[in-house]
Amino acid sequence: MNIRLAKVNPTVEDLMGMQACNLQNLPENYTMKFWMYHAMTWPQLSFVAEDRGRIVGYVLAKIEDPAEDDKEPEIHGHVNSISVLRSYRRLGLAKKLMLLSQEAMASIYKAEYVSLHVRQSNKAAIALYRDTLGFEVAKVEKKYYGDGEDALSMRLSLILVIIQDCIISK
Ligand code: ACO
Repeated sequence: MNIRLAKVNPTVEDLMGMQACNLQNLPENYTMKFWMYHAMTWPQLSFVAEDRGRIVGYVLAKIEDPAEDDKEPEIHGHVNSISVLRSYRRLGLAKKLMLLSQEAMASIYKAEYVSLHVRQSNKAAIALYRDTLGFEVAKVEKKYYGDGEDALSMRLSLILVIIQDCIISK
């Protein structure tokens, strides 16, 4: 098993693997243009888990531009999507993918926090975010999803990661 940065190359094989993994695991799906835009704009933030050449998990993330949102003026990362194929779950892959992306958000972009949305009924993902990674619920967004389900808007401060990076680089 290998966990590495998603790469953008002419065959876009990583992105197709990520998209295939997403289609198997989640009802929120995206066009190839969307995957490509994220990988090319924030190439340091998306990671894949690969087993013998097959993408078995991914995290797709971005940086929110504070200039575009007066209500949230701090630079922050946002996890668009994460999933791991069913037969590869509970091996710690999602935790590792999230930690790598969070570390890159803090060290490269100095993101003050990371945010995400998760379905209120998604017990596995909520346990990952809250119990394993330390996220907190910032608010509940009513009828956020296309089928009317509410989303938990969750956040994790990255300030400690930024401070640790500063100490290490001195
Ligand atoms: N039930 C309860 N807790 C769980 C579960 C579960 N089924 N799965 C993970 N956790 C929690 C546990 O605390 C676990 O630690 P432990 O195994 O030591 O008890 C911790 O999360 C870390 O688990 P990982 O092994 O790293 O998680 P995994 O690789 O299995 O992936 C994921 C978790 C991504 C939620 C997976 O179940 C999945 O792909 N689900 C379908 C897609 C999905 O729901 N994605 C998230 C949508 S929200 C978004 O994308 C922003």
